Order: sequence, then C-alpha cells, then structure tokens
Amino acid sequence: AAPAQRPPVVWLHFGECTGCSEALLRTQYPYIDELVLEVLSVEYHETIMAAAGHQAEEQLQHAVKKYDGKFICIVEGSIATKYNGGYGKVAGRSFLEIAKEVCPKAAAVISIGTCAAYGGVPAAAPNPGGYKGVSDALGIKTLNLPGCPPNPINLVGTVVNYLLLGKLPDLDDSGRPLFAYGKTIHDQCPRRAHFENEEFVEEFGSEEAALGYCLYKVGCRGPETYNNCPIAKFNDGTSWPVEAGHPCIGCSEPNFWDTMSPFYEE
Ligand code: SF4
Ligand code: SF4
Ligand code: F3S
Repeated sequence: AAPAQRPPVVWLHFGECTGCSEALLRTQYPYIDELVLEVLSVEYHETIMAAAGHQAEEQLQHAVKKYDGKFICIVEGSIATKYNGGYGKVAGRSFLEIAKEVCPKAAAVISIGTCAAYGGVPAAAPNPGGYKGVSDALGIKTLNLPGCPPNPINLVGTVVNYLLLGKLPDLDDSGRPLFAYGKTIHDQCPRRAHFENEEFVEEFGSEEAALGYCLYKVGCRGPETYNNCPIAKFNDGTSWPVEAGHPCIGCSEPNFWDTMSPFYEE
C-alpha cells in the first residue's frame, strides 16, 4: 500500500534525449500511472506535466519552496559548465543555474541515466559546452542510476528502499546502488558458457550468431560493465541487448561514449 505521505519529486531535464523518461513510462512494476499518482507525488516533470511556459516555471518554484529539504530531486541529463552554462538553457536560465538553485534544497538527488550520472552523450569528446554529470558539475553527492537508457526497475527499487527503510540503498564508488550494479554483465550473462568454451560470434548474421555464441569478438563490453540487464531485462522482462544479439556497449559506465567505442569490432 502507498504511504500516507507520498514523497514529493521534482524531476529536472537538462542535456539529454528524454530516453530515460521514455524508459520510465514503460515501467511495469508498478505501471507508470500508479508510480506517479499513488507511490510518488510528482510535482514537476516537463515531459508529463500538463502545465507549460510560465505556469510550469511557477510550479517548479512553488514545489521547491513548499517542500524545501523534503523533496527528492531526480535529474535527467548532464549540465553544461563552460561559458557560464551557456550551452544549455530552459526558459532563459542555464541548466547550471537551475541545478545550483534546486539540487541543494532536495533531501536526495538521484541522477537517472548516464548523462546525469557521468555526463553521457552530451559530454562526449570534444564536449565544447563542458558538459558534466550532476555530481561533478555541482560538487555534490548524488545517487547514480546510469544506463542509456537506465532500467526503470532500478529507480523503482531505489524508491521502494527509501519508502520502506527511510534511507537510500548502499552504493559503490561510482554512486551506483549495489543491488543493481554490484556485478558485471559478463558475470550474469547467459552466453557466458560460450565465452568459456571459446565459442565466439566473429561476424553478425553468421551461423555462430544464430547459435547465440558469445559476442566478445564483435565488441561486447560486458566484462567491463556493471549493470543488471541480464536479470532485470527491459520491457516487462522481454529481452536485453545481448539476448537480442547485440553486444553490450557499456552504456552504464562513466564516459562510455569515449572509452567503450568503437562499439563494433570485426
Ligand atoms: Fe538519453 Fe541516454 Fe542520456 Fe538517458 S542517459 S537522457 S537515454 S542519452
Ligand atoms: Fe560476456 Fe558479452 Fe560474451 Fe556475454 S556476450 S559472455 S557479456 S562477452
Ligand atoms: Fe547498456 Fe550493456 Fe545493459 S549496453 S543496456 S549495460 S547490456
């Protein structure tokens, strides 16, 4: 049952593609309507709120004032830090300015997706705007739920932990909850036996690919990537990249766009 007082949530969008919100809209445990109407009290979220323009801005100011020190701030997207934040603005104010104003007033800041957690795609080289993850940009501690997109089940797990135990879950050195990011993809992968037997896919579309062999030689970054995709899967447990025949590109690791590419090797 939902608690009497649903925790207020202010969801900020910065430099991002909205893929994290899109992933959240597909959550099934619980469905999104239950999550935003019965479990949480979402006070501000640019993609799903009815208000627009000045009315939306007022809603943000109102929520931050009313729930000062009590709301959970969930940030999607990274923050431009060079040129006084000039590379990213909402309603004439830079992401940096908005984040500096809102984040310190939150009870907790959750960075959802690799952009908010570590900079992600907007921070990929040459990164002219000086994009950074929220923690780096503001010099604060955040709980990070990386992934591009992240699995919404890990946000739900974090929120449930907070509601039931009154605290956030234990984190690793990169700010990620251990319950979700404690093991590598490789250590949970159903193709692991093929890796051990040196049965590799060397070319997409080959017989080995059809047999579901290991994708290491076509670029799989599963051995260096911490996430629970093989267990949690996406879209109601339907599938995940490696199960669908695609190598893991390391999307939940810091700087994956620069350090894990090229994503395909042949
Ligand atoms: Fe989009 Fe990925 Fe950034 Fe989420 S982490 S906003 S899915 S680019
Ligand atoms: Fe590891 Fe990737 Fe091979 Fe799975 S497909 S066993 S994650 S290298
Ligand atoms: Fe990302 Fe690899 Fe999972 S690419 S979605 S961490 S399998």
